[in-house]
Amino acid sequence: MSSQSTLPTDSASKPRKRMTVPGFMARKGGEPLVCLTAYTAHVANLLDKRCDLLLVGDSLGMVIHGMPNTLGVTLDHMIMHGQGVMRGADKALVVVDMPFGSFEESPEIAFRNAARVVKETGCAAVKLEGGAEMAPTIRHLTRRGIPVMGHIGLMPQSLNTMGGFKVAGRDERDWQQIIQDAREVEKAGAFSVVVEGVTEPLAQRITDAVSIPTVGIGASAQCDGQILVFEDMVGLFPRVPTFVKRYGNMQEMIEEVADAYAEEVRARRFPGDDHVYTLNKRDG
Ligand code: KIV
Repeated sequence: MSSQSTLPTDSASKPRKRMTVPGFMARKGGEPLVCLTAYTAHVANLLDKRCDLLLVGDSLGMVIHGMPNTLGVTLDHMIMHGQGVMRGADKALVVVDMPFGSFEESPEIAFRNAARVVKETGCAAVKLEGGAEMAPTIRHLTRRGIPVMGHIGLMPQSLNTMGGFKVAGRDERDWQQIIQDAREVEKAGAFSVVVEGVTEPLAQRITDAVSIPTVGIGASAQCDGQILVFEDMVGLFPRVPTFVKRYGNMQEMIEEVADAYAEEVRARRFPGDDHVYTLNKRDG
């Protein structure tokens, strides 16, 4: 890594203060909240001043570690990536996902694991998947000092019980349950809720039903904010779900750069004169 790293060394010297949980909540119904995932320090540093919230999502299992889904992600994975993101970001609110198996068993176990995440990463909040059934856990955490972001609609950690990644709310008969999930999550004390993979009219109903900000992914513009997986957005991950807009194609760029490097190494054009250490000059 270059010695001219742009990672922050003195957060006190930066003008804008870090986004707080109350500051994020105050944006309900106002200027849309800009959120992205980040898994590493340098990417977090690049996104930091452009985002209100950075999520260390458990999608990192698929995107960074090549897992088939998020179920294999561990607390240690989340803590390691959370630490990196916290080293890179000092403006955005950083939220770390609770991975599958770390919070479902009991509110007490959820607290123990979430407290570890907060202590060891320094993040401000955790996110956990689940609707009404997770309300007691959300209440337990928030009453003990850990802000929680909920996650309803399509919940990737429920892949096996749902039988795949399915858009929620295509059938109006399912709406009531999902709206109720949003209400219960809010009542339990969540400061915001991710709404994933729902139809536009349902997203509108959910956003209207709660007084905390809704953050949509594949949930239309009828949310208080948006989140995307950064690698999806820049074309660094092969999947392109309908809801993803590709703002760039870094895969193509990396392939071109690697081709150019390989070609120059094979032709002995790299390293050239500019990239070679020279001897000290001696007098005479
Ligand atoms: O894990 C993740 O990246 C997420 C977002 C897609 C919301 O949960």
